[in-house]
Parts: sequence; structure tokens; C-alpha cells
Amino acid sequence: MQFTALHYVVAFIVIFSTIVFIVLFGRLPAFKGTIVGKARTLLWHWIPAKLVAIDKTITGGRISDATRSCGNYLINDKHWGVAIFYVTILTVALIFFFKDAWRHIMNPIHRLLIPPLAFQPYFYLYLSAFTDPGTITPSNVSRMLEIFPYDDIIFYPDMPPCRTCHTPKPARSKHCSVCKHCIARMDHHCAWINNCVGYYNYRFFLAFIVSNLIVLAYGSYLTFSVLYKEYMRQYFPEGYDSAPKYYWADYIKWMKLIHSQNWTATVSSLFMISTLVLPLVIAFLAQHLLFIHQGVTTNESEKWGEVEWAIKNGMLYIYEDGQFNAENDMTETATGSGSGSESEYGVARSRPGILTNGKGKLGKSGRRVHIHVYGDGEMNRSVPHGMVQTEKVPDLDSICNIYDKGGIFQNWEEVLFPKYT
Ligand SMILES: *[C@@H]1O[C@H](CO)[C@@H](O)[C@H](O)[C@H]1NC(C)=O
Ligand SMILES: *[C@@H]1O[C@H](CO)[C@@H](O)[C@H](O)[C@H]1NC(C)=O
Ligand SMILES: *[C@@H]1O[C@H](CO)[C@@H](O)[C@H](O)[C@H]1NC(C)=O
Ligand SMILES: [Zn+2]
Ligand SMILES: [Zn+2]
Repeated sequence: MQFTALHYVVAFIVIFSTIVFIVLFGRLPAFKGTIVGKARTLLWHWIPAKLVAIDKTITGGRISDATRSCGNYLINDKHWGVAIFYVTILTVALIFFFKDAWRHIMNPIHRLLIPPLAFQPYFYLYLSAFTDPGTITPSNVSRMLEIFPYDDIIFYPDMPPCRTCHTPKPARSKHCSVCKHCIARMDHHCAWINNCVGYYNYRFFLAFIVSNLIVLAYGSYLTFSVLYKEYMRQYFPEGYDSAPKYYWADYIKWMKLIHSQNWTATVSSLFMISTLVLPLVIAFLAQHLLFIHQGVTTNESEKWGEVEWAIKNGMLYIYEDGQFNAENDMTETATGSGSGSESEYGVARSRPGILTNGKGKLGKSGRRVHIHVYGDGEMNRSVPHGMVQTEKVPDLDSICNIYDKGGIFQNWEEVLFPKYT
């Protein structure tokens, strides 16, 4: 069997998407301890470490230094490189599609739908990239503190102000070292859009992912239909039923068909590219839909992972205020300090580690519950002043995530209709 350019394209795409899949999703808890998780450790930690070691003995580490600064540039600097790469790939694919597949698509409905759907990724890329993701400035930080109350678990009122921006850090905000600003409801910095994904552009970012998914799924369907029609035309002009159904014979026919003309080779390549990239986009979208359903951002999901880890290791405690009673709580709410705010479920004030759970789990008896988790997985296990340590937190379900409004649609409100200052 002869290896043609097409085989190399297929091999490259298969290997590339496998690696991307492993690197992107291997660290998800679902893959912990599975072959995907292990493959990620191998690809992400073990092989790079070995390569660096080899490089050190041969060139004194010059290649790994250059790679590192190049990688740092790609990941940590604001530049349009990745976005331009994306736009180039998409544009080239679309040009080939219109050059070689379009004339074989006769159905007027498809002909009507294709141009606007093909245009959408550009539109949403533009919106995601050029919408302010929610830059926090001294003039609107107080409004953001109002919109996002502290939960006293993963965000607490006595967090120090941002060292760069010198503004207080509202809950769910995060300083982006690439954009050099604090961003409200920061999800992550995305190199594809050369912007942060935050409070005001998360919806456009989701639309961008969905528009890519549509282009890939629809493209994969259309290219396959075109090829299939050509296949029938070449081999079964009288209809498929009249032919013997030997799978292997069919396979050879397909291979012949793909190589029979230039346009079939192009359309096959488009079909394979879109079909292989599609699962990655679906997985990425599924991850974000899950995050929205759970009421977390990408970064908070990691923080909750740390809380869960601390609970499993018996490191998280419940503290109780000796003098607590329900009435007292009401008055304290009313006179609570300025940086505090109320939420539907409880009261967050400028004291560390206070959580009032309204979901009827911990604190059901009207107790005020105090939990200490300090930033980035650092647990503060010292008992707060005037508090009595009562028991260990039994499980993650006992703690409520006040940013999860519950239900199927409630969390979508803040995603689709962010409040403006
Ligand atoms: C805060 O104000 C700045 C400057 O006016 C604006 O660009 C930004 O979008 C505002 N941020 C939020 C979170 O409202
Ligand atoms: C989440 O934020 C912490 C602290 O800012 C950072 O160390 C971590 O890498 C972030 N994780 C992700 C997935 O962005
Ligand atoms: C832990 O909590 C105590 C009491 O609230 C506080 O004094 C101390 O500074 C905290 N430690 C850290 C590392 O934040
Ligand atoms: Zn900042
Ligand atoms: Zn950013």
C-alpha cells in the first residue's frame, strides 16, 4: 500500500487531536487514575522533563530555554498570534469548501444556510475579543462588590487588595496577568480570542464555541453527503440495492474515490478535519455547560476541587459562634460592615470564614457555620476569635455554593444578561 499525502494528513490529524484531547481533558477529575489521566502525566510532565534533561547535557539547556520563552510568549503575552492562526485555518478551509464542495450542493436550503453559518465564528470571535470582559476600576469596584457577594469559603472579605490594581477583589474576580487588570467573574484568559473570558463576554465566548461546533458538524455532514453522492454516481448508478454488500470492497471503492479527482481529495480532507476536531469542541462546550450548571467558573471549579480534597483529608472544620441566635443574626446583617453584602442564602460580612447555609444542609438548625479555606488551597485551621470548633465538614454537599442558583435555567441569567454598572 502506498502512502499518499492524504494518509499523512489523516495520521497527523488523528495524533494531533488525541494529544490535544489528552492534554486538555486528562486533568479532569473524571479521568483521574484512568489511562487518559496517566497519558497526560506522561505527555505533560514526564516527556518534557526527559527532553529538558537531554537538552541540558547536549546544548546546556539552550533549546529548552528558547522553547520556554516562546511558550511563555504564546501563553502569557497579549498578542494576536493564536487568533490569527485560527482565522487562517478557518478561512483556508472555507475557501476550499466553496471552491470544491459548494457546486455539488444543490439543495437551496443548504445554499441559503451555509453562508451565514460560515460567517458566525468570525462574528463571535470579534465580539469575544473586543468586548470588555469586565475590567474592574476604582470607579466601579463597589458595584461589583454588590453584584458578587463573598461566600466566605473560596472568596472571603478580608482578601488583600490586588497588588497590581490596588483595588479590592470582589468575589469571583481575578487578576489577569496577561491583560494586567482585575476582571469580574473571570473564567480564564483565552489565547484564541486574545482576551479574558469574563462577566461581560462569557456569552459571546460560548456563542463562539457553539458557532464552531455548528460549522464543524454541518461541514462534516455536508462534505460527507457530497462524497456519498459522488460515490453512488461512480459505482452504483442504478442504486445501492443492486450491488453486493462487501464491506472491504466498499472500503477500496472509497479509497479510489477519494483519490480519483482533486476535488474529492479536498472534500475528503475537509470531512476528516471537521469530524476529528468536532469531538474536542463538543467536549469543551460540555465542560462549560457543566460549569454553568454547577454555578462555577473554570477557576472556581479548581478551587472547589481543593475544598473537596481538604474535606476528604479531614482538614475542614465547622466553627460556631457561642452567642449566636437568629435575631442576633438579623441585627448584625442590618448593621454589617460596608464591604459585606446580603445574598439570598446568607450573610457574608467582613469576617473570615463565615457561611450561613440556606440550602438546609449545614446550618439547618439556624446555626451560623464557620469554615476556613484560605486562597489557593491554603487552609487556615486556626479557630477564629470567639468561635468554637465543633466538627469536621462531612462532605462537599454539606457546603453550599452561593453562586449556584440551582435549577436548570437560573445560572444562565448571569451568563446571558450580566448587569452593567
Ligand atoms: C468599569 O469601568 C471601566 C471604565 O469606565 C469600564 O471599561 C469597565 O467595563 C467597567 N467594568 C465593569 C465591571 O463594569
Ligand atoms: C486559578 O487561580 C489560581 C490563583 O489565582 C491559579 O494559581 C490557578 O492556576 C488558576 N487555575 C486556572 C485553571 O486558571
Ligand atoms: C488564620 O485565621 C486567624 C484568625 O482569623 C488569623 O489571625 C490569621 O492571620 C489567619 N492566617 C492566615 C494564613 O490567613
Ligand atoms: Zn488586579
Ligand atoms: Zn486576560
